Parts: sequence; structure tokens; C-alpha cells
Amino acid sequence: IPVPPFDYVVFGATGDLAKRKLIPALYYRFKDGQFDEKSRIIGVSRSPLSDADFQKAARDSITEFVEKEYQDKKTIDRFVSIFSYVANDVTDEAHWADLSAKLREDPKIIRAFYLAVAPNLFGPICEYLSKRGYYRRDARVVLEKPLGHDLASSEAINNEVASIFEEDQVYRIDHYLGKETVQNLLALRFANKLFEPIWNSANIDHVQITVSESVGAGTRGYYDESGALRDMIQNHIMQLVCLVAMEPPASDDANALRDEKLKVLRSLKPITGSEVAKFTVRGQYRGVTSETASVKGYQDELPAEKKGSRTETFVALKAEIENWRWAGVPFYLRTGKRMANRVSEIVIQFRQIPHSIFEHAEGAPKPNKLVIRLQPDEGVKLFLMIKDPGPGGMRLREVPLNLSFAKTFAERTPEAYERLLLDVIRGSQTLFMRRDELEAAWKWVDPIREAWDASRDAPQPYTAGTWGPTGSIALIERDGRTWHEDDDA
Ligand code: BG6
Repeated sequence: IPVPPFDYVVFGATGDLAKRKLIPALYYRFKDGQFDEKSRIIGVSRSPLSDADFQKAARDSITEFVEKEYQDKKTIDRFVSIFSYVANDVTDEAHWADLSAKLREDPKIIRAFYLAVAPNLFGPICEYLSKRGYYRRDARVVLEKPLGHDLASSEAINNEVASIFEEDQVYRIDHYLGKETVQNLLALRFANKLFEPIWNSANIDHVQITVSESVGAGTRGYYDESGALRDMIQNHIMQLVCLVAMEPPASDDANALRDEKLKVLRSLKPITGSEVAKFTVRGQYRGVTSETASVKGYQDELPAEKKGSRTETFVALKAEIENWRWAGVPFYLRTGKRMANRVSEIVIQFRQIPHSIFEHAEGAPKPNKLVIRLQPDEGVKLFLMIKDPGPGGMRLREVPLNLSFAKTFAERTPEAYERLLLDVIRGSQTLFMRRDELEAAWKWVDPIREAWDASRDAPQPYTAGTWGPTGSIALIERDGRTWHEDDDA
């Protein structure tokens, strides 16, 4: 079903995000027939481009980032014909460009402003939209990360936006919420009777969330200012924690869901002062040279003026949620660049059975484990104990019930932005972060950052292509547990 017609104004239209993610995502949705024919995309950026230049850029982005089998010339031609461009420098009020010729007054045409620019421009852009009369009470504004670098800066950004837009008009992107498998967490938990009764501290021993990447980070200018804690934990991983830990919302209404996520964030036990060294580990990768390949260390990738940077490219931490459901159930979280594999997964480790009748069996029963693989190879595995086939008596073996999405469904897994970009037009805020959620996450993360900044210790080194520093293994093994490793991974 097509979404209502729209004028989508994309600030930062010539940037990397637009090129790699936004334009390809819009193309897939267009190709699927989800655009009303009156829809338009208006690029805004500083570069002096013509409409034709921008259309060419859109074409290039499709050629490079859309799967070949989905590229067909007719559709691409029709798609780029809805693109136009306005050059504008929002920092120069005297020369603000006129958008009025592009924006249609018809109230049935949804007006959305996508700010894919640095957050210090959010304020000036909102001011521009308002002063020039482009604001409408039913318009939407989409904010890309980073939404601040700590609580104070995040509040400042939110205040600037809120001076023009109401909260129900603001769509803060955390693209993890748009991922198919992340949404599947909701289906798994709340569309099955099976899990909810055991989804608590009586039955769950601990939870692990790993988001590991094999790419490096040192050549990305922004990263050194940010580090893994701000780049991944504060947003994506906190959102995953919320979806795993929240109480069942009364409905899928955006605020019902976000209220429950907020409660989780507010129940996180603060990690402050001397606890930071105990419950968190930060690392930085160093290079490795083997016979076949050589990978640079983070320091070697940085420009000269940044050498000696103490920015972390890896974080592991032990979080606790102080409420009835989760008291005593640690959430071990880890994320890093240049790790052994690209894997995002959530592991729900259940408790051991209360009593074993298999005293004489070979192999002791292992506690059940539910592994939700977000990427790559999306799927869900439930590790069960079974009897090994054969007449040789009772031999217990752990085997996964394996639901692979690729094997079960023929369809291509859509990219996160495909869902999110059109949810803005649909007016659905369910998969976007509300202001109070964002600020609660910063509030929890800030003391960790502060303790690291105050500490004389540097991040622990780890070799590129490994699972992170030894401290990360120690963090979980100290509690008598281990990080999940999948033999098939
Ligand atoms: C971004 C981070 O938000 O998420 C990047 O800034 C990271 O550092 C990326 O690589 C990971 O996203 P995905 O979808 O590839 O898991």
C-alpha cells in the first residue's frame, strides 16, 4: 500500500549517509510501489549542484549500493525524476535559499525534513524552517545521530529542536530499531506464549549482547571524538537492552512502547567512580602483520595530530537492571571494531535445571540458550539438550533448533532505513527514540565516560581480528560465565 504523497527535504543530501543508505532505501520502497506518484524528494546541501547533477548522484548511488537484480533502468529513470535540488548554506542567513517553490501547500502532501547533517546545524536549520515559513504543525523532522556527546549537549540539541517542533513531530533515528531482526524481538517476545512466563530472573541466568564489527575506525574523522561507548553502546546497544528487558507494553502504540523502554533505562544501576574500572573494559586495536595480510592498528590509521589518542574502539561492560524482573541477572554487553567477525547477537542464557536425573548419562545437561542473531545470517537458535541417537545408552547432547531467516523466507531482508524513512511519512514514531529515552541513556553512560577520562589508564590493547582485550574475557569469567561462541559463525 503506498504511503501518502510527500515532500521529503533531505539536508545533507550530498553526504555519505544519503549516498549509501537513504537514496538506496528510498529506491527499494519506490520500486515496490510504495510511493504515491505525487511524492517528491528535495536535496539540500552546500554544494552548487543543478537538479540534473543531483539526479546523476542519485543514479550513481543506486548503481553502487542497490543489489544488481533490483536495478532496472526504467524504474531508476522514474525514480530520479522526482529528485530536485536546492543549494543552501544554513549558516549564512543573509543568503538562505528559497524553498517555497519546492514545497507544496496541499495539506494532503506530507512535509518531512530529514537532517542528515552535523548536530550543530540542527538548531540553525530549524530556525531557517521556521523563519522562512516552511514549518507546519503537521510537518516532521528527522534527526540523525550523533544526538550529542553527553547529556548536556544532547539536551541543548533537543531544546533547539523543541523551540520549533513538538515532540510528536520529532523522529530520532536509531537505525538498529529499523532492522528486521530487532523488530522480530518484539514478535518473538510478545506474539508467542512460550517465552514470557520464563522471561525473568527465576529462569534466566544472564543476557549477553555482542555487536562486533570487522571494519576499522581510525580513518573516520568523527570516530575519534566519539569512541565505542558513544557510537554504539549509548544508542544501539541500549535500545537492544530495552527491547529484551522491557515489560510487555499494553499496545504497539509508540508511547506505550517507549514508556516501557524508558522504565528499563531508568532502572539501570549506575556504574560510577571506582565501579567503572570493575564493571567496564575499554580497548583499542593494534595492528597485525601475517604472511598473507597486514592490518593497521587504530593509532596508525589516525592523522598525525591525533596520534596518542585514547579513544576506545572496544567496550565490554556488565550492566544490571534494578527491578523485580531482572534483579541479579547481569547483562554483559560488548562491541568493537576490527574484531574477529561481524556478528550482532543477543544471547539469553537460561538457568540450569534444578535437578538432574541423568547421573549415569554421558554428558551433563547444559542450560538452555536462546540466541537471536541480528546480523549477518539473521535467525533464532534455541539450544536444547537431546539424547544422542543410538543404542549406546543415554548420551546427552546440546543441539540447536535453528530458524534461519534466509532458509525460511525467500524475500530479501530490507534495510533498516527502508522501514524508518516511510514510517516518518506514515506518522509512526514507534521505532524512533523519544527525547526522555535518549537523555536517560546519556545519563547512564556519562559517568562511565567521565571515569575513563579521569583515569590514567589507557584502553587495553587488543590485536585486530580478535575478540577484544583479555579484560573482556576476564569480566565475564570472573562471574563463572563465558562469552557465547557459535561454532557455525
Ligand atoms: C553506526 C556507527 O551508528 O552503526 C558505526 O556509527 C557502526 O560506527 C554502525 O559501524 C553499525 O551499523 P550496522 O547496521 O552495520 O550494524
